[in-house]
Amino acid sequence: MKAVIAENLVKTYNKGAVKALDGLNLDVEEGTVLGVLGPNGAGKTTTVRILATLLSPDSGNATVAGIDVLKHPDEVRKLIGLSGQYAAVDETLTGWDNLIMFGRLYHLSAKATKQRAIELLEQFALSDAAKRPIKTYSGGMRRRLDLAASLIIRPKVLFLDEPTTGLDPRGRQDMWGVIDDLVKSGVTLLLTTQYLEEADHLADEIAVIDHGKVIARGTSDSLKKQVGGERLEIVVENEHLEVVKDIVARVSGSAINIDEGLRQVSAPVTTGSKALIEAAKMLDEKGIHPLDIGLKRPSLDDVFLSLTGHVAEEKKEEEVLVNKGRRRGK
Ligand SMILES: Nc1ncnc2c1ncn2[C@@H]1O[C@H](COP(=O)(O)OP(=O)(O)OP(=O)(O)O)[C@@H](O)[C@H]1O
Ligand SMILES: [Mg+2]
Repeated sequence: MKAVIAENLVKTYNKGAVKALDGLNLDVEEGTVLGVLGPNGAGKTTTVRILATLLSPDSGNATVAGIDVLKHPDEVRKLIGLSGQYAAVDETLTGWDNLIMFGRLYHLSAKATKQRAIELLEQFALSDAAKRPIKTYSGGMRRRLDLAASLIIRPKVLFLDEPTTGLDPRGRQDMWGVIDDLVKSGVTLLLTTQYLEEADHLADEIAVIDHGKVIARGTSDSLKKQVGGERLEIVVENEHLEVVKDIVARVSGSAINIDEGLRQVSAPVTTGSKALIEAAKMLDEKGIHPLDIGLKRPSLDDVFLSLTGHVAEEKKEEEVLVNKGRRRGK
């Protein structure tokens, strides 16, 4: 069963001058993680806000847990959690008070809220900081508290909009651990990111979006395969290039590339490490010692570049804002 379905979502801003979504389609299988990967302005936040009932599309349909987002937003809200790109927590309140406030917002009883707040603070390693105002928290702690707040009602479907943007590598790793644990607990997750590594690490499936449309979708592996399979790459002294070319031809048989500048012979291979071992043996028989030899798999960076014609991870401005702890309206 699909936990999230979006069909042909179109959304324009400024009286049609800006087309944020241009017929976006996606779905998320229950209990899985969909990574929505796209550069600045691709339409990630717009998509999440529509699915989370905060924004209406110009046209198109969406369901969450089988419920129509446009017709029954109140029902949908009872089932979802959202952690936005810009933290929703109140800076002047303590972590504890923020969670209590969120519990009230969701009409939980005082008792249930307290119990849940204790659990969540523990789960996100924030118990010690519970009585401190958020403004004294690090960026990673704020993000974790924001995530905790989105889980106050134990949502079936969770939306995380760029959960690690602005965090340092350590903070990102911590957040990934937290998200991994959540996923194990069975929640369906739609997360947006500009970080290829993050999609690779967290998502079962990836939807690559650009200019308000899904331009590719699949597992990280299948996307990489679309761009091309593994390549055998051998670097040798220039004098050996021709001989190595013959060797590579025997294990590959197609499209051999010689780069004299890099002193590299490369070609696509279908037999993986077997091709590598065979080539290494033949080199050894000829008495040639390669400077480097290896198999290269395309990265998600290669995928993104080949799909969109530009690289991902261009975000800088917002990270600075987050690091400075400035808040922006949601
Ligand atoms: N309130 C708004 N008014 C006018 N234009 C908007 C508004 N919100 C978004 N846009 C525009 O719609 C497009 C999609 O924006 P959106 O915020 O969904 O992208 P995003 O993928 O979340 O980008 P980012 O990675 O920067 O968060 C962009 O061109 C953006 O400038
Ligand atoms: Mg965004």
